Amino acid sequence: MAREEQRALRFDILTLFPEVFGPFLDATMLGIAREKGLAEYHLHNIRDYSRDKHHKVDDRPYGGGPGMVMRCGPVFRCYEAVREMAEPAGRFVMLTPQGRTFDQALAREFSRSDRIILLCGRYEGFDERIREGLPVEEVSIGDFVLSGGEAAAMAVVDATVRLVPGVLGHRDAAASDSFADGLLEHPQYTRPPEFRGMTVPQVLLSGNHAAIARWRRAQATERTRRRRADLLNTQTATTEKNDG
Ligand code: ADE
Repeated sequence: MAREEQRALRFDILTLFPEVFGPFLDATMLGIAREKGLAEYHLHNIRDYSRDKHHKVDDRPYGGGPGMVMRCGPVFRCYEAVREMAEPAGRFVMLTPQGRTFDQALAREFSRSDRIILLCGRYEGFDERIREGLPVEEVSIGDFVLSGGEAAAMAVVDATVRLVPGVLGHRDAAASDSFADGLLEHPQYTRPPEFRGMTVPQVLLSGNHAAIARWRRAQATERTRRRRADLLNTQTATTEKNDG
């Protein structure tokens, strides 16, 4: 399902708090992506799909216990209505700490799709039948619990949109990011060459592009080994798989 070059990646965000997204989506890279016609963001309030006279979207858990659970009705109706607003169906992603961990590889996959529908939860969780009855993929942004999926949805939108071809100004800006090649990014410096006694490594001022590239690669590898050895192991495993 490759996206044609000029077609925008469409996000539909299902949330109880659409107002928290506005400034985030308007500002900086995400706003520019929209202006360039490379991304679209559509916000939908799940509460609008409640048929309860008080527009309730949550209720007490069967079997007792603390907190409230998101009800099936508003979520099913909201998803079904939004799904019909555009083609194709795209991917339907529930933000939850129980999901597959979001990483750069998944961001890259998302950036190649036509449409992503994001479901943000609140309260103690979703009625389990939402998982059973709707075609959801569950995604977590890490092993911690947020009070809602909105901040997680913002992370997913940001990491995804910056990988859409044409969004970043410099052709190689995304290619040299941390994780782009399985390594953390090398150290970066800008002017002045000396600040409070701290100097920029000489090689970066040398104009020797081959030496600079070698230095950066070595720094990235060393930094990854010290901080995130697990990434090197994964990379070795991938290389072995590809070789074998
Ligand atoms: N909602 C609450 N915590 C979350 C997390 N870690 N990732 C995604 N969605 C969440």
